[in-house]
Amino acid sequence: MTTDNLKIPTVALGTWAWGDSGETGNGYFGSSLTQAGLEEVADKAHAAGFSLWDTAVVYGMGRSEAVLGEVMKRFPRSDYQLSTKFTPQAAGTADDPVADMLEQSLARLGTDYIDLYWIHNPADVARWTPHLIQLLKSGKVKHVGVSNHNLGEIELANQILGEAGFRVEAIQNHYSLLYRSSEHAGILDYCRNHGIPFFAYMVLEQGALSGKYSPESPLPEGSNRAKTYNGMLSQLKALTDKLASIGQKWGAAAADVATAWAIAKGTTPIIGVTKPQHVDSLVRVSSIMLTTDEIAELEALADGANVNTRGWWEQEMSV
Ligand SMILES: NC(=O)c1ccc[n+]([C@@H]2O[C@H](COP(=O)([O-])OP(=O)(O)OC[C@H]3O[C@@H](n4cnc5c(N)ncnc54)[C@H](OP(=O)(O)O)[C@@H]3O)[C@@H](O)[C@H]2O)c1
Repeated sequence: MTTDNLKIPTVALGTWAWGDSGETGNGYFGSSLTQAGLEEVADKAHAAGFSLWDTAVVYGMGRSEAVLGEVMKRFPRSDYQLSTKFTPQAAGTADDPVADMLEQSLARLGTDYIDLYWIHNPADVARWTPHLIQLLKSGKVKHVGVSNHNLGEIELANQILGEAGFRVEAIQNHYSLLYRSSEHAGILDYCRNHGIPFFAYMVLEQGALSGKYSPESPLPEGSNRAKTYNGMLSQLKALTDKLASIGQKWGAAAADVATAWAIAKGTTPIIGVTKPQHVDSLVRVSSIMLTTDEIAELEALADGANVNTRGWWEQEMSV
């Protein structure tokens, strides 16, 4: 049985883009990240008290985990929490592919336990969920959650874990102003009613909602995120302008307001931080209080943008 409660921060830190930090250079995000630059990000986050880091085996195929592990060496292990994932599509041929993938993550992250371990997607809930039980019993995994699961799949995972005295302790789905499918499908309500934290990923739509990118200044040419978002940046302008104007009241930027919106909706945003100033942004977020009218206005502008930002790896959540 899980003995200690999962510590839920106001904001968690995402490191998918850190998979771009290899010697071969730009990857999924088209970001040129260096270990020295990311150490600065981590130092700032540590000083500001942000301590939950999310990664996955498939972010840069091990590179994100390896870089994160290397960067975190500068802090005592008890100062931070690690969140990583079993990705069914990357399962190997070992007797227990989940335990095997976990061992590889532990090695890359330079640790002997993971605070929060996820099944990355619902490729086969009945097949993969039971593997978490042994990992919880061994103590190598302290808490477990499921990602990209719809309501029925969450309940099935919870039932499987429940039979062994465990439970789904967290949900991680795509949730932003532009993509509220988990809200429409009742997953946010389900989490609230069951006391399960909902971690919202891609709150900034990989930078498209940061206010920094526009048709004149698009996302890095040739990157995967550019392919998804550059064609819709003109439709997002009214929304990002509104985010920026609300931000002005608080001495904050558009990205800060987008993150504050996700918190106001009762979620824990996982923000992909690539630069030290992104940590300053997260500090500012805590002082922003959005009114009900502002939230409604932002959501109306988001709906009016009429874009679908569902990731290629995601399923429709609506029931
Ligand atoms: N479970 C899943 O299937 C799943 C899927 C996707 C993501 N995730 C997790 O969620 C995390 C967040 O998603 P994400 O990284 O894809 O996208 P995101 O958080 O929506 O956007 C991150 C990008 O926004 C920009 N940014 C971040 N903070 C900013 C700020 N304060 N001001 C201006 N720009 C800012 C950065 O772009 P620049 O580098 O261009 O500045 C960064 O790469 C991931 O890192 C990962 O841990 C999980």
